[in-house]
Amino acid sequence: MSGAEPENTVVASASSSAQLVDELITAFAEFSEPDSGPGVTRPGYSVLERKAHDHFTERMTQLGLTVHADAAGNSIAELPGNEPGLPAIGTGSHLDSVPQGGHYDGIAGVVAAMEVARLIVENKTLHRHPLRFVVFAAEEGARFGQACTGSRIIAGLTAADDLNDLVDGRGVTVASAMQEIGIDPLRVGDAKWRSKDWCAFIELHIEQGSVLMDVQLPIGVVDLISGSTRLKITTHGRASHTGGTPMHLRADALTAAAQIVLAAEALANDDEHRGTRITVGRLDVHPASITTIPGDCEMYVDIRDVDSDRQRDAATAFIATAYQIGHDRAVEVGSEILADASPVVLPVFVRNTIVGAVAEMGLGYRVMPSGASHDAQMINHVVPTGMIFVPSQNHGVSHSPHELTLTPDIVRGVDALHASMLALDSSASHAAHD
Ligand code: GLV
Ligand code: MN
Ligand code: MN
Repeated sequence: MSGAEPENTVVASASSSAQLVDELITAFAEFSEPDSGPGVTRPGYSVLERKAHDHFTERMTQLGLTVHADAAGNSIAELPGNEPGLPAIGTGSHLDSVPQGGHYDGIAGVVAAMEVARLIVENKTLHRHPLRFVVFAAEEGARFGQACTGSRIIAGLTAADDLNDLVDGRGVTVASAMQEIGIDPLRVGDAKWRSKDWCAFIELHIEQGSVLMDVQLPIGVVDLISGSTRLKITTHGRASHTGGTPMHLRADALTAAAQIVLAAEALANDDEHRGTRITVGRLDVHPASITTIPGDCEMYVDIRDVDSDRQRDAATAFIATAYQIGHDRAVEVGSEILADASPVVLPVFVRNTIVGAVAEMGLGYRVMPSGASHDAQMINHVVPTGMIFVPSQNHGVSHSPHELTLTPDIVRGVDALHASMLALDSSASHAAHD
């Protein structure tokens, strides 16, 4: 040991701990529906999501932070700053998952926030601004079709009136799901953030793609987040006996639906829509019997793009094609927009602060767009927001039990997030809102 230090001095660690990151990732993975197959299943606004938020609350309370759950079920932990009256700097992500999801989507960003809080508390780091560590509720659109419900409420993009419109696969509305876990849906407006209380926010997330692996860089700095238009398309034909009904007398709802699915793929692959991604992720067939021609189908379609016009053009063209296919096959087609979020360009000053901090640490980075949606996209309406990506393994697979981000990559991300937040703390009160 160096001669200058007394033997019993505890030197606080300036960098995140791989062991703690692993422990937290493993602890959150335990909150999963039993018998739901491989991976993690933890729907938004479920008891399991609440348990995961409770675990966050317990750990952050033990660290000495004040934690509260807001009126929309988001959990917010706070460390007061040294200079009264300054707006907050925040970080965080989500803890809900898609069905049979992985251990890292959202969770990596919450674990990173918890590690940054620990480093700041244990190192007794002086900071001027209040620091807030946030877990957003119900980020995944998997349950209700609409993504980012907790952060949309925070940003004033979803209000109490909207919570009866969307239902999950069992017909439960967002409002009833909230009531079942003790959230009053009529009061969610109280969760709205005021821009004047906030200085900046950074969300760390796994990339959910393979760019960082391909270019062998540890950090992505996000400049642009894709928009997403979500549709429900129905086909209504005539259920009838599979043996008794000749092929030319059928109105088969599923063959029409199948043709619509292939038309979606063809549309996304045509030259005008290069960069558009269209996916039919769910197709329900009724009456779902091997001896009955399908009479009704519902499909759920997700159209993503970084270009707002191309996103909406693709949605319009897709709906028109679906109606044409229905017409040609004498099958009735219906369409409903479940959700529609625009692409978002993230503010330059937060991005530049992250780039500066990461470059100073000697880490390689790439400025890149995000194909996935994120809470960052919503809260950017009220607080200037940046995003840090860390690499995804296994060719970037995500929303799958095979999702994997290596612990050393999360640790590097935590250190980049920590440095970026402290850089914002020393400079951001003067930053221009560009
Ligand atoms: C969230 O994972 C999304 O991109 O929809
Ligand atoms: Mn996510
Ligand atoms: Mn996700």
